[in-house]
Amino acid sequence: MEEIKVFCPATIANVSCGFDVLGLALESVGDEMVVRKIDEPTIRIRKIIGQELPLETDKNVAGVAGLALLEKSSCSHGFEIEIYKNIKPGSGIGSSAASSAGAVWAMNQLLDTPFSPLELVQFAMQGEKLASKVAHADNVAPAIYGGFTLVRSYAPLDIVPIHTPNELYATVVHPQIEIKTSDSRKILKTNITLEKGIQQWGNLGGLIAGLFTEDYGLIGRSLEDHIIEPIRSILIPEFEHVKKAVMEQGALGSGISGSGPSIFALSKGLETATKVAGAMKAIYAKTDLDFDVHVSKISSKGVQPITKKA
Ligand code: HSE
Repeated sequence: MEEIKVFCPATIANVSCGFDVLGLALESVGDEMVVRKIDEPTIRIRKIIGQELPLETDKNVAGVAGLALLEKSSCSHGFEIEIYKNIKPGSGIGSSAASSAGAVWAMNQLLDTPFSPLELVQFAMQGEKLASKVAHADNVAPAIYGGFTLVRSYAPLDIVPIHTPNELYATVVHPQIEIKTSDSRKILKTNITLEKGIQQWGNLGGLIAGLFTEDYGLIGRSLEDHIIEPIRSILIPEFEHVKKAVMEQGALGSGISGSGPSIFALSKGLETATKVAGAMKAIYAKTDLDFDVHVSKISSKGVQPITKKA
């Protein structure tokens, strides 16, 4: 195979109680990317449509992730990449992760899959490091594995795929202010009290158990974040208002998507997720902010091929 076109899913990281360790992939929101072999042993970003992003390989997250893979590969050629961005950078739904994960997943396919999904996550994390100064894996892991993933450990890297209940839907609103992940990490405290730790790991355990047993009530009760959300939510206009309104429409729970400003809600079933979208729209329609709202099933798949060329 000489060329592949892939869908690169948007992702929701943290999912309230799982800061830097939990994430999920969306089924119907994402970028597209074309990757093809070239003779020169390098990575070239040929074009980016949809957003103003750097074309220089070492300044582009897909380029940096691709170089990390190329360094570990024995191949004598390189790759060129075309990126079709639908996910806005700084939106909180894994824009950089989609590009990093898409690039390395597609390159691996063109090389006849020498690398495992865990190795692909490690390469893609280099893109996250470029974007946010920290090589976090909670967006790139679900972008590669699909569904929900847990980063059980960073050193050594250990990714645990988590069962995704079939009726689980996400609704995401993106009020269009840009919050850089690197900035919204700087405002976090580096120490927490034991009391807050107990609340957080109780909820994280509850959420994982709720996902595996498809206990939607337990999933909802566990969507709480007592550590990060109180600090970051002050940066997001209408945050508390949205949280209240989505519960009135029957959402299981809600929180900040990644480092914000997007807010996500999880619901059982498309009907409730769509009502939740209506509530989010009604709130931001009264402000002078532009906004996007997405409703998506949680995808059981990560990056997916769209077309292949021999
Ligand atoms: N876990 C990261 C953070 C995700 O919250 O900073 C960024 O998308």
